[in-house]
Amino acid sequence: MNDSSAETSEQRLVEAAKEARSCALARYSNFHVGTALESDDGNIYTGCNIESAAYELTMCAERVTIWKALSEGARRFRRIAVVADTERLTPPCGACRQLIWEFCGDIPVVLANLRGDTETLQMSDLLPRPFDAQFLEETGADDETTPEG
Ligand code: THU
Repeated sequence: MNDSSAETSEQRLVEAAKEARSCALARYSNFHVGTALESDDGNIYTGCNIESAAYELTMCAERVTIWKALSEGARRFRRIAVVADTERLTPPCGACRQLIWEFCGDIPVVLANLRGDTETLQMSDLLPRPFDAQFLEETGADDETTPEG
């Protein structure tokens, strides 16, 4: 979805995440999640959780979305919306916090449910003292977060 370079409204991002949630394949948990990630050029990448009969292969919506965006060449991001049908707004799991931090940086995370509640949290608050590529620089690892990676 291309929304030009203008910043997408929070409401539009949440709507995109809600729409993506309707595609969730969550037959084991029945916990449906949708996410929408806005890149710095205004594109919106969306994803839903996909569960496997081999449970541990299940993939969270956040990771589906991040992989879609990265594999299409996006490298810089403005914010991500996470939608689930819970009264207490659902935040990204620990594994997804790590990956949002690594690939999107200190972006705002917009949590929303189907009742219209929203709350925006900053990644640095969700994942204090993160481990990331900076720690590997001493060993000479390459920075692959630029488009030419
Ligand atoms: N899940 C997500 O997709 N994102 C979250 O932020 C929390 C959990 C999924 C994984 C699994 O399919 C289901 O929700 C129950 O854990």
